[in-house]
Amino acid sequence: GRVHHYDFILEETNLTRLCESKMVMTVNNNFPGPVIRAQRGDTVFVNVHNQGDYGVTLHWHGVKQPRNPWSDGPVYITQCLIEPSTNFTYEVNFTEEEGTVWWHAHSDWTRATVHGAIVVLPKEGSNYPFPDPDGEEIIVIASWYQGNLNAELAEDLALAEDLPHSVSFLINGEPGDLVPCSKNTTYRWVVEFGKTYLLRIVNAIVDAEAFFAIAGHNLTVVGMDGSYIKPIHTSYIVISPGQTMDILLTTNQTRGLYYMATREYSSEDAAVTGFDHTNCTAILQYDGVHHSFLSTPLFPDNLPMYLDYRAAMNFTNSIRGLDTPDHPITVPRDVSTKMFITVSMNEILCNDTCSSGHEIVTSLTNISWLDRPLDILEAYYWNITGIFSENFPDFPTTFYNFTGDFFPENIRQTFKGTKVKVLDYNETVEIVFQGTNVLSGSVNHPMHMHGYSFYVIGSGYGNFDNETDPLSYNLDDPPKVNTFPVPKNGWLAIRFVAKNPGVWLWHCHLDRHLSWGMDTVFIVKDGDTEETSMRPPPSYMPPCNVSEWGIPP
Ligand code: C2O
Ligand code: CU
Repeated sequence: GRVHHYDFILEETNLTRLCESKMVMTVNNNFPGPVIRAQRGDTVFVNVHNQGDYGVTLHWHGVKQPRNPWSDGPVYITQCLIEPSTNFTYEVNFTEEEGTVWWHAHSDWTRATVHGAIVVLPKEGSNYPFPDPDGEEIIVIASWYQGNLNAELAEDLALAEDLPHSVSFLINGEPGDLVPCSKNTTYRWVVEFGKTYLLRIVNAIVDAEAFFAIAGHNLTVVGMDGSYIKPIHTSYIVISPGQTMDILLTTNQTRGLYYMATREYSSEDAAVTGFDHTNCTAILQYDGVHHSFLSTPLFPDNLPMYLDYRAAMNFTNSIRGLDTPDHPITVPRDVSTKMFITVSMNEILCNDTCSSGHEIVTSLTNISWLDRPLDILEAYYWNITGIFSENFPDFPTTFYNFTGDFFPENIRQTFKGTKVKVLDYNETVEIVFQGTNVLSGSVNHPMHMHGYSFYVIGSGYGNFDNETDPLSYNLDDPPKVNTFPVPKNGWLAIRFVAKNPGVWLWHCHLDRHLSWGMDTVFIVKDGDTEETSMRPPPSYMPPCNVSEWGIPP
């Protein structure tokens, strides 16, 4: 493989959206940030120069980073902050994933504006499992917040108040024609008639799942999260935050101007206040068509409505993995570690810091993750005790009817803690995530794993049944992904082989849930050989702001 170098200058940039100008962190003054392009087998070094006002870290979402968690990026999990006026070089190795993945900040909610696509082309001498497209286009869907997002986030967390809500979505940085002050800057993609394009879609929205459609055009979804899937012919997609999709689009229409549109998908039972559900649009324009009578683009009539759970499930349930000689499907048949993890919103009693006496937390198996001032990776590598414990529970200590519509007393049995799960090298792992409903509104939780892709072998509605549900597992053509929604009031079963030693974060990719504690860490131990062991740390890691735990130089 080849080696590429990128310089990422992080700095405060003035952006104007929806009639408001403000300073936000960007990379190289681009919003969305720069695209990284590589072939499978390549290595990319990204030198991050933090010229902004606060510390950040970056994460390469969907890149496995084999044996090298040192470059994975989540703050307090694999590193501490890259402080202002310092720099840090990430090494990103593309070994397994192929298609579209992405990168984003992984400290507070800076990722709202610090994100970009990563294009991984087939490795030297291999091809797409579909005819070569005539062209390609990257579509990054994101969200726009008013005010100073990180300041508000910190304040809300300190006061145990609801976390900020976005005011609009963006397509390639712009909210589009249908919202105030935005018409002139609407994003336009100019295409030629009679071609097939590869559309690379990234959901970089901070806090929502989304529908996406293009008026007058069918979509053929061929890839997801850097893996190929069996083609899905559809008129819309639903995409969770963190997910990426590769889509073929044939330009066979004659009207000239079409809207590409995205709209929030909410799995809740009713609309949440505070979010403007106006559609976010961009324009697909056929080259050579400039007639004024065509100046109003057609809106996609197949874009599902905000609460259309059925449309979302129909799409999600149709995703199947594609087995090719280059990318064989190898689902582990025998399982050495089985875990059952509940995924829930809880309320816990809080100390004097909050006025109402209780605060909202999120949890995995009743543990709400607590960040420590030293990252888990360095604590593990240097054997520093007192940072985390190794008893992330396999099974809830307290049972309740997970999906029942009641408010059990035992929700108070949720605790904050820093408990990790330790796996031996090469273990075959099955996890069943059970969505619960202990607070009145239950939603999907798009769960994301760092360092791995996993096979989605089953999902269903209601409480997981250990006797009958495994009988319906799909071990033949499950999709291999890194982010997948645990359906509200339902369960999701996944499998992977623990062959990437290191320290890897698991979390809900809705940032409000992550901030409330919906994360945990898997430590995968070294194997017997050097090639199956974690690499040593680079000579420089950003220092942690701790005095009581000295890290060896
Ligand atoms: Cu998209 Cu933990 O990341
Ligand atoms: Cu969640």
